[in-house]
Amino acid sequence: MARAILFSETGGPDVLRLETVAVGDPGRGQARVRHTYVAVNFIDIYFRRGTYPLPLPNGLGSDAVGVVEAVGEGVTDVRIGDRVGYLLGPQGAYADVRVMPADVLIPLPAGVSDSAAATLMMKGMTAQYLFRQVYPLKGGETILYHAAAGGVGLIACQWARALGVTMIGTVSTDEKAAVARANGCVHTIVTSREDIAKRVREITDGRGVSVAYDSVGRDTLMASLDSLQPRGALVSNGTSSGPVVIDTMLLAMKGSIWVTRPAMIHYAAPRAKMLEMANELFGLVQSGKIVSEPAQTFGLADAAEAHRLLEGRKTTGATVLVP
Ligand SMILES: NC(=O)c1ccc[n+]([C@@H]2O[C@H](COP(=O)([O-])OP(=O)(O)OC[C@H]3O[C@@H](n4cnc5c(N)ncnc54)[C@H](OP(=O)(O)O)[C@@H]3O)[C@@H](O)[C@H]2O)c1
Repeated sequence: MARAILFSETGGPDVLRLETVAVGDPGRGQARVRHTYVAVNFIDIYFRRGTYPLPLPNGLGSDAVGVVEAVGEGVTDVRIGDRVGYLLGPQGAYADVRVMPADVLIPLPAGVSDSAAATLMMKGMTAQYLFRQVYPLKGGETILYHAAAGGVGLIACQWARALGVTMIGTVSTDEKAAVARANGCVHTIVTSREDIAKRVREITDGRGVSVAYDSVGRDTLMASLDSLQPRGALVSNGTSSGPVVIDTMLLAMKGSIWVTRPAMIHYAAPRAKMLEMANELFGLVQSGKIVSEPAQTFGLADAAEAHRLLEGRKTTGATVLVP
């Protein structure tokens, strides 16, 4: 048996319930993983709210770290006893143990602890694909990055520093600004009292930035567009404040702006690509260029409280559940 968070209706954090569920042996191509850490991501909130629909009742979460305790027929990617993490696959990571497809499991190397990995699988891989694939940074650029003190954000700050990129990061409070700067964000804009686009123009001597990575969405769309150079790029990679609807004529008026709305699945597949991305990320951790540990830790039973703080903008860095 396993302890797992399930929800049978969409809504606020209170729809999350801790239940006892049966866990069988892994079938062909599957592995049973006993979790040491479960990561909480903003995307879990979109699923819980029903923004991204799921058949109900359902489990939640797609990001965890643990040990392989059984494998089914035909599994060659991992072995019993391997330390692994994952960020893809079916929802249901908010559990102490689960059976899942083995081909999404990523073996963890020495020098990457379980607790660090719990902050890296979804969040670090997101920084990888944003900075190295979606709009590849060469070094020397000045970029705008929203929610710089968040889970993805603090890894992005460090990755930008490692690449020699000048990050202008937005945050909602001075405390978050200090955390982002301590992680390598060069300039911070405190959105509760500063005009984002105006500050970007001041910082860049009027030029604007070549790319804006915008995970906030509705509240920051116009500021992102107004911060870009002509023919700059808007990477719209999340909607924590609400959805984004763009009139393409607006893109012409703002400077022939390029826009993409990337999804991990199109960058982290096939498996060889996912492992290549993870290797690059782990290399930065092993060399000390990225240092990442959970900033908020909850028990599995307190998943709802973790959601309340994350959606209430009360967290910095990564939030994890310890089963
Ligand atoms: N496309 C992808 O593949 C992909 C993958 C992973 C994550 N994401 C996206 O990246 C973003 C970051 O994810 P995360 O898990 O690391 O979360 P997070 O950044 O730790 O938390 C979200 C942050 O967004 C900011 N925010 C601004 N307006 C908000 C609002 N109205 N409600 C809530 N938060 C608001 C808050 O920072 P301030 O208080 O400083 O403003 C908050 O801390 C999310 O939008 C997520 O969906 C996308």
